[in-house]
Amino acid sequence: MVTLHRPKALNALNSTVMREVTAAVAGLDTDPGIGAIVITGSEKAFAAGADIKEMAELGFADVHGQEFFAGWDALVRARTPIIAAVAGYALGGGCEVAMMCDMIIAADTAKFGQPEITLGVIPGMGGSQRLTRAVGKAKAMDLCLTGRQMGAEEAERAGLVARVVPAADLLDTAMATAATIAGMAKTTAIMAKDAVNAAFETTLTQGVKTERRIFYSTFATAGQAEGMSAFIAKRKPEFNKG
Ligand code: CAA
Repeated sequence: MVTLHRPKALNALNSTVMREVTAAVAGLDTDPGIGAIVITGSEKAFAAGADIKEMAELGFADVHGQEFFAGWDALVRARTPIIAAVAGYALGGGCEVAMMCDMIIAADTAKFGQPEITLGVIPGMGGSQRLTRAVGKAKAMDLCLTGRQMGAEEAERAGLVARVVPAADLLDTAMATAATIAGMAKTTAIMAKDAVNAAFETTLTQGVKTERRIFYSTFATAGQAEGMSAFIAKRKPEFNKG
């Protein structure tokens, strides 16, 4: 589990946080013993956005020259499934980091939003794209143009969030879900993640072809041999060896 911890700034995402979080995730991602990753924040905030105080002094040449925020793309390159466990504020970059994860489990206290417009900017870590793909144009426009916050129930109805749980159960639920995923064959889990992600990158016809190729590939894995023989033998499969 990776925990965002800048309590005095509601976990605002400055460059140091970006470096530390992406390095931590990369370390877990390359560990063959890790089958799923949870990223979480605090009870009050998953993250209240990119660090406004860090950004306030920057000009065009600075953000353009540094390719500001591009470092966060490392999260999307991780192959291991990532769960965002969100309580409290997930605003701006906080919402965007949650959406870079493979699924969001939300506490009933979670509040999502893209309030950048209230600061005179727009989302810069993928919010206008991933939110629109997740919830559709109507709600994405609503959030990006008004800057309003969306509660956990609305976020679940809209398709942004996989599950909403009482705040007290958030970490247990996220860790249990991660353990379930980690109990699958890791290669197959990576393949399943790739197949779902293909839906966002390609046409339906191409996506279905991609899925079928990946499906055929599962027949070369130990996971397929173990999963199917365990079913026939009426025993629990023992994955995790590929
Ligand atoms: N950046 C820097 N500092 C932040 C911050 C942020 N995004 N969000 C909160 N903080 C700091 C506050 O400045 C405050 O610090 P001080 O005590 O030193 O004054 C501390 O965290 C606590 O915040 P508040 O006193 O404001 O707490 P609150 O409970 O009254 O309000 C809030 C909570 C509604 C989330 C409010 O803090 C807020 O509106 N934060 C900014 C949200 C925002 O606009 N996020 C988008 C940022 S832009 C972005 O993310 C760009 C992008 O596309 C990636």
